[in-house]
Amino acid sequence: MNTNSSNSLLVVPTGALKISEFKPEDMNGDHHILLSLVIPTYKERDNIENVVNILSGLLDAAIPGNYELIVVDDDSPDRTWEVAQSLIPDYPQLRVMRRQDERGLSSAVIRGWQAATGSILGVIDGDLQHPPEVLTQLLEKIEQGADLALASRHVDGGGVSSWSIIRRFLSRGAQILGLVILPGVLGRVSDPMSGYFMVKRSAIAGATLNPVGYKILLEVIGRGRVGEIAEAGYVFRERTEGESKVTWKQYLEYIHHLVRLRVSTGRIGKIRRKVNFPIGRFLRFGAVGFSGVFVDLTIFHVMRTVINLGLTRSTIVSAEIAILNNFLWNDLWTFGDISRKQIGNRQRFKRFLKFNMVCLAGIVIQTLVVNFLFNSLGMNQYLAKLIAIAVATIWNFWVNLKLSWRVTEVK
Ligand code: GDD
Ligand code: MN
Repeated sequence: MNTNSSNSLLVVPTGALKISEFKPEDMNGDHHILLSLVIPTYKERDNIENVVNILSGLLDAAIPGNYELIVVDDDSPDRTWEVAQSLIPDYPQLRVMRRQDERGLSSAVIRGWQAATGSILGVIDGDLQHPPEVLTQLLEKIEQGADLALASRHVDGGGVSSWSIIRRFLSRGAQILGLVILPGVLGRVSDPMSGYFMVKRSAIAGATLNPVGYKILLEVIGRGRVGEIAEAGYVFRERTEGESKVTWKQYLEYIHHLVRLRVSTGRIGKIRRKVNFPIGRFLRFGAVGFSGVFVDLTIFHVMRTVINLGLTRSTIVSAEIAILNNFLWNDLWTFGDISRKQIGNRQRFKRFLKFNMVCLAGIVIQTLVVNFLFNSLGMNQYLAKLIAIAVATIWNFWVNLKLSWRVTEVK
């Protein structure tokens, strides 16, 4: 068992944020451990003892002597690192790092992984908002062959406690933005914003990670060699002590991170994607969309010739009626296997709202494309409309696939 006899703090790794290949002889022939779980902390003084106690109890039962907990604190003003350090004598598998020259959630996790000796590297928040009991499910998925096991709020059994509408909107908006900028990374998971997962060391060893902000998962999927990804649902809990450190700064850093990851990893195609593109579903979505085109064009024609409505209003009214047509068919046929699991009119209405929101954005895209092609390029209005529908259909499929039919129960 890899125990830390003294209660000294870990030496803080410096230099590139690179995870080393794991070689058993590094452990002087010791029995190397399975799991290194990093707990990034900033002002978690009132949470950390509870977190260490619960995690230790759970992992002592699941993988006794085969794990380590690594608290990485960024010199919290409430001296969280000191409280964690005082726990070491009671928790021999606990190691503590106090960073004074660097700050940031993502780099804290990586520095912790650099000091880790396990063959599986994990991260969990230090405020008990990530339910610890999901850890055993994540471990199981890794042992069943996944390279990365993710705790997700957007799969069966997932959800958020009582996030404000704003926080929920921002989180989903960030996800949509990421799906547009970096579909090859964010498209591989249902909850790319998650900060609760485990990854095989072999899947990221040797990669130089270069994160900014909170989203360590993007860095791991974007720069690692992650093959199979498995997910387990979890409900994001309410905090009991302290408060979230997420501010506008993290949202701006997120956009910066997306652009940087996109630029540095080149075309989406270069990112090894294991996701099998759901071609069957896309064809069904296309067929439904095709029926919607007839509904759309017929209503558009009636608006323009019988009711004499203006171009933009005709476009919007006809598109909205086509959206309703498309939702009904998609919910029944294209995504029927998913929607049948989400029973109840409330869930169906939520799906319709999300579908509508995504498709309304599609209408904006359509209107911009129609006006550009018709007014700026002088293209025939019906051809312009057809091209605009094609552009909007790709947008609608991709974002609805990742968002609308991933509706989760609010616990
Ligand atoms: N070392 C270090 N440095 N830790 C930090 C820092 C930092 O700069 N900022 C935050 N943390 C720690 C907090 O102490 C907490 O343990 C954890 O990172 C998450 O920070 P919160 O401020 O509680 O974030 P949140 O609860 O709003 O969001 C979390 O959960 C989301 C859903 O999984 C974060 O993990 C998000 O990244 C995640 O999307
Ligand atoms: Mn939190």
